[in-house]
Amino acid sequence: PREGYGRTWAKTILIGEHAVVYGHPALALPLHSLRMQAWARPAAQGEESSLRALDYEGPLAGSGDRFGGLRRAVAVTLDYLGHPDQGFDIRTQSDFPAGRGLGSSAAASGAVVRALLDAYDVEASDDRILELTNQAEKVTHGHPSGLDAATTSGQDPVRLEHGHMRTVRPQGAAYLVIADTGVAGSTKEAVEGVRDRLEADPDGVGRLMDALGEHADRAIADLEAGRMEPLGAHMNRAQELLDDLQVGHPTLDRLVEAARAEGALGAKLTGGGLGGCMLALAADDGDADRIGAALKEQGALQVWVHQLVA
Ligand code: MEV
Repeated sequence: PREGYGRTWAKTILIGEHAVVYGHPALALPLHSLRMQAWARPAAQGEESSLRALDYEGPLAGSGDRFGGLRRAVAVTLDYLGHPDQGFDIRTQSDFPAGRGLGSSAAASGAVVRALLDAYDVEASDDRILELTNQAEKVTHGHPSGLDAATTSGQDPVRLEHGHMRTVRPQGAAYLVIADTGVAGSTKEAVEGVRDRLEADPDGVGRLMDALGEHADRAIADLEAGRMEPLGAHMNRAQELLDDLQVGHPTLDRLVEAARAEGALGAKLTGGGLGGCMLALAADDGDADRIGAALKEQGALQVWVHQLVA
């Protein structure tokens, strides 16, 4: 093998997170400007694999729970390639923070899968890459819908329902303002909490899920018809439902309120919740800039503006 390189990017879920795990529709978009890169350099003969990622530097095998998904990505990809015993020095580098609902775990696994395939000059199909990345996501948070893996490797906005994906083509004009609360939210913990509540109250929590799915479908129809105001209203309603699912956080609430007060058409958490990032829909770039400034004033660590429709 040679040194291999792989690249993926961040994603943001516009609507439908959590309910998508139970077969309801959701919509997510790739954020191509926020890259995740991975390099895989063959280790010397007989040497074990090593990892440099986030603040970790050391043997891959000793990299702990945090990198369990990444270790699985390496193992399943080397198995697929037929070289399970080859060691690699693996390095990842990200333009966006981990643990904030932007898909960093799926993005890192996807980038490492691509880097290892590249090291052997093997071109795998998108479906195969997705399948390998999803194996890693199962370790990271147990029961992934596959939405993160698909969007962090994909070119287009994606609607996912019951594992079935289709491309969404936004119309009209709008901007997304994404802000990091600075509060680390564990997707695994959030997904497990929702599962516990669904088991305890299947009817009540099931109704919340149904409603989230309905708003997601109507939001997707609005986006494809360029109807931004109703789209924003669905996002606002989804935020209430996610709060009812108990995946909110006071800092998210504060930023959501601040965005709406500056004229956001809609605002909600994005991703697993319990912290992480929030998302606001802005009608134009002026609104997006004002909303971004207000979010920073309210303590957002970082703000990114993304043109939803060119
Ligand atoms: C996490 O980004 C999105 C969730 O819906 C989990 C999943 O889709 O696997 C919370």
